[in-house]
Amino acid sequence: MTKILYGNIIAKKIRNQINKKVLCMKKKGQRPPHLATILVGNNSVSMTYVNNKIKDCENVGFKSSFLHLPNTITEKKLIKIIKDLNKDTLLDGLIIQLPLPKNINKENIIIAIDPDKDVDGFHPLNIGKMTMGIKTFIPATPLGILTLLNYYKINTQGKHIVIIGRSRIVGMPISILMAMKRSPGNSTVTLTHSYTQEIAYHTRKADIIITALGVPKFLKSNMIKKSALLIDVGISRVKDSTNTKGYKLLGDVDFDNVYNKVSSITPVPGGIGPITRSMLLKNTLIAVQKRKK
Ligand code: GUN
Repeated sequence: MTKILYGNIIAKKIRNQINKKVLCMKKKGQRPPHLATILVGNNSVSMTYVNNKIKDCENVGFKSSFLHLPNTITEKKLIKIIKDLNKDTLLDGLIIQLPLPKNINKENIIIAIDPDKDVDGFHPLNIGKMTMGIKTFIPATPLGILTLLNYYKINTQGKHIVIIGRSRIVGMPISILMAMKRSPGNSTVTLTHSYTQEIAYHTRKADIIITALGVPKFLKSNMIKKSALLIDVGISRVKDSTNTKGYKLLGDVDFDNVYNKVSSITPVPGGIGPITRSMLLKNTLIAVQKRKK
């Protein structure tokens, strides 16, 4: 089995496939897919994510629009902007970068997005469809994990998967997807979170661990069983004066500490992150298909 499960190789292939599809669309006289991103406030991590999304769109030939709104904006005004974008027939996908300022109710915002433009897959209708196994937008990170499992032909049937973190962006949806009666899936899933007593008690029994905690080097060798497969979704910025950016990226897994004990592991950076970015583009293409109907 491949020891280091690189995601950037997969992401590059997917981007190339998408780019070819866009060129085909343009040749046929169709307009390219169009993704709009809304960012409220000046969270520097969110800004990096949004800039990456814009760059990714440009690289595959998508049109991208960016709305940068002040964190003083009211919930009502933001909902009005979303409803206007919902009506825009020249727009395929719409994402509101999270987190939002505290004065804005996240749920009200997500519900305001047209489910057919909800390329994040966060709208209750899309989460409901996903849970029922009905074809829909699957949130980018869980979809990236499924894509990685498929690419490396990892058998998950009957395997015990322990997930660390129950966020609506990663932990919750991937726990549902891995338990579903299909492949990848058919797994026995344990979802651990901040109230779990003795996380290591669970992780030591896992065949596969998916961690999305955001605590650098959290998972150590004494917390896993021999030959476990580790999928590291955590990305934390840690100060590093030797780096020109002033920080380095670290995952939830203490990579060097576990390396000799695992069967396979995703690196950070270069693992789940790049696949996740390409999945958002894939979802935008699905939105284009919905537009055509
Ligand atoms: N913030 C962190 N991850 C995400 C994501 O996947 N989508 C949105 N909209 N915001 C995020």
